[in-house]
Amino acid sequence: MSECDNCSHEDCTSCNNKPEPSEQDLNIEKFLSQVKNKLVIMSGKGGVGKSTVAADIAVLLSKKGFKVGLLDVDLHGPSIAGILGLTGIPINTVGNKMLPYQYKDNLEVMTVQGLLADNDAALIWRGPIKIGVIRQFLADTKWSPLDYLIIDCPPGTGDEPLTVVQTIPDAKAIVVTTPQEIALADVRKSLNFCELAKIPVAGIIENMSGFVCPNCHTVHNIFKSGGGEKLAAEKHISFLGKIPIDPQIVESDDNGDPLDKLSKETNMALENIVKNLLNN
Ligand SMILES: Nc1ncnc2c1ncn2[C@@H]1O[C@H](COP(=O)(O)OP(=O)(O)OP(=O)(O)O)[C@@H](O)[C@H]1O
Ligand SMILES: [Mg+2]
Repeated sequence: MSECDNCSHEDCTSCNNKPEPSEQDLNIEKFLSQVKNKLVIMSGKGGVGKSTVAADIAVLLSKKGFKVGLLDVDLHGPSIAGILGLTGIPINTVGNKMLPYQYKDNLEVMTVQGLLADNDAALIWRGPIKIGVIRQFLADTKWSPLDYLIIDCPPGTGDEPLTVVQTIPDAKAIVVTTPQEIALADVRKSLNFCELAKIPVAGIIENMSGFVCPNCHTVHNIFKSGGGEKLAAEKHISFLGKIPIDPQIVESDDNGDPLDKLSKETNMALENIVKNLLNN
């Protein structure tokens, strides 16, 4: 939103003179009007599997025939290109628009990783630049009309998720956690963020929930189990499902083929989450 000439409030809630929308505002609005569902993947905690879950859900939905966009707004630590095997491929442009990666048939992907001069380049950006870049990803990318736009956020409640929820008013959050209290404490902050930002929570996913021994099939609850489910019940939020600890997830993410050779339990868990999401 452009700044108001009259009162200089960003959103002009205290001024009746709404500023004229900028060309970028209009482009964002036009794109978002062609997206049926907007899902923001977030967590107060780092490393709980947000990017993995975002990529897995995006690929599974696209395999079911939905048109899906996957937008990585983790500007300092983009993981989506790596998980989908797109690292090192530059983003192309057509006219004044960026062309998202086309991953298999129905999945379009945009990430800052494809704009970096080299794979290991660090981005030293502060708030206003980050906000501008995320808005450009929405306004200046040649997205198709989408059934789902899935947005992978960095951990916490900083500039990136805030920009996303302020720019996409009808977004819903999916909050990813691991089962132990130290992760849940941070996740409660994410839920509080959603409440303050007035965005509904589509559900909680409990990742790294139990390890099924491939030899004896006994379940070992390495990070405990059930914490995310309990939190969802406590807050009256849908629980979308649990994903077990599966060493093959690490292998598949590292190899750029996220659903490759996952255990039967992991495949079932992911399918169940997508089913719950579709029934939500
Ligand atoms: N269920 C799981 N079992 C085993 N490994 C997992 C599982 N989920 C994710 N991982 C692995 O854990 C690591 C962290 O996952 P990921 O990058 O998706 O987390 P993140 O929450 O996006 O991290 P960040 O906060 O840095 O963005 C990756 O190596 C990933 O392959
Ligand atoms: Mg991540």
